[in-house]
Amino acid sequence: MGHHPAQQQAFSTRAIHSGYNPMDEQGALCPPLHLTSTFVAESADDMGAMFAGEKQGHFYTRISNPTLDLLERRIADLENAEAALGTASGMGAISATLWTLVAPGDEIIVDMTLYGCTFAFMRHGLGKFGVKVRHVDLTKTSLLQDAINDKTKVVYFETPANPNMRIVDIAAISEIAHQSGAYVVVDNTYATPYLTRPIDFGADIVVHSATKYLGGHGDLVAGIVAGSKELLTQIRLVGLKDMTGAVMSPFNAMLIMRGLKTLELRMDRHCQSAMKIAAWMESQSMVDVVHYPGLKSSPYHDLASRQMDGFGGMIAFELKGGINAGKAFIDALNLIHCAVSLGDAESLIQHPASMTHSPYTPEERAEYGISDGLVRLSIGLESVDDLMADLAQAFAALEHVTA
Ligand SMILES: Cc1ncc(COP(=O)(O)O)c(C=O)c1O
Repeated sequence: MGHHPAQQQAFSTRAIHSGYNPMDEQGALCPPLHLTSTFVAESADDMGAMFAGEKQGHFYTRISNPTLDLLERRIADLENAEAALGTASGMGAISATLWTLVAPGDEIIVDMTLYGCTFAFMRHGLGKFGVKVRHVDLTKTSLLQDAINDKTKVVYFETPANPNMRIVDIAAISEIAHQSGAYVVVDNTYATPYLTRPIDFGADIVVHSATKYLGGHGDLVAGIVAGSKELLTQIRLVGLKDMTGAVMSPFNAMLIMRGLKTLELRMDRHCQSAMKIAAWMESQSMVDVVHYPGLKSSPYHDLASRQMDGFGGMIAFELKGGINAGKAFIDALNLIHCAVSLGDAESLIQHPASMTHSPYTPEERAEYGISDGLVRLSIGLESVDDLMADLAQAFAALEHVTA
């Protein structure tokens, strides 16, 4: 369903220029920021025609805004989607999308591992309104074939999954889902469109926490939905306008466009440093297992090599000594901060079981593959040598404690 204009320019060029001609804005190199809630109409008839959908134009920022419009067209271009939509947060993107696609009695099939609040939304939010959510291990494609039925409206997953770096085969899952008439929704937050374009592999909708790599500087909370014009119009006019009101601020749209200008550069650096650190960590005596799809030891290495243009900046690992060792390790770091979120210039480390994935009960975490000892590390843009020095001194401190 992706559309490829003839002689498409390269990713970085489109991330900087797509959809904007400075000459349309008095030569301004950077697009103007339209900080306005409402728009003035030429006449009552004109405004009426816009409300009736008979005339194009902006009339209220909860529905559309020129600054958001440019960001949305730019992201749609990068995702090879027909259209996109900015939202107030990643959770706004996910909830606006699902409220639009499902009705009571419908079923959603989701992967085993989901970001904690996505899990809570599915399990406790949608469940309250008569939508059944079933977890299936989508890394095993045949399990979807067995589980899907004519009530399944949506198949939903993250790849790589937060926090344990499982990779799902988008093309194989999409083929099975589409045979049953279900939509495929992929959370592409970890990969970004620079590393994976799920629509090219057959997905219908892509969601993002733009808070992460797309913004890239840890200074905003925002989300994105991308997909076909038809679906995105529905999500804008139902899920966003009426059901969640989770509208992105034009100011954040401007900041995300600033972030996009360096997305390729930043992701290249994130990938390079994460690869080096993951390989080095694997050789550390205190480390039990490192989850990073760039490692040959990862069960997802071959699939990630086909589906991704790089392995990303996120690493998960488990230390010998489990959760207590993990917490002591986090506390021993100096340069790398203990914080949730990811994809920033600053390297961030956290413990999913007690932080981002605490909406799961301990039993659910065990069932859905989030072990208590797992530590999540977002590799930032600092010098990789400085990061490794910080990690090395924390390993040394840990050895001292456990000796
Ligand atoms: C994979 C993933 N999806 C969605 C979200 C939710 O995004 P936000 O925090 O912008 O609402 C997050 C946030 O951590 C995430 O990591």
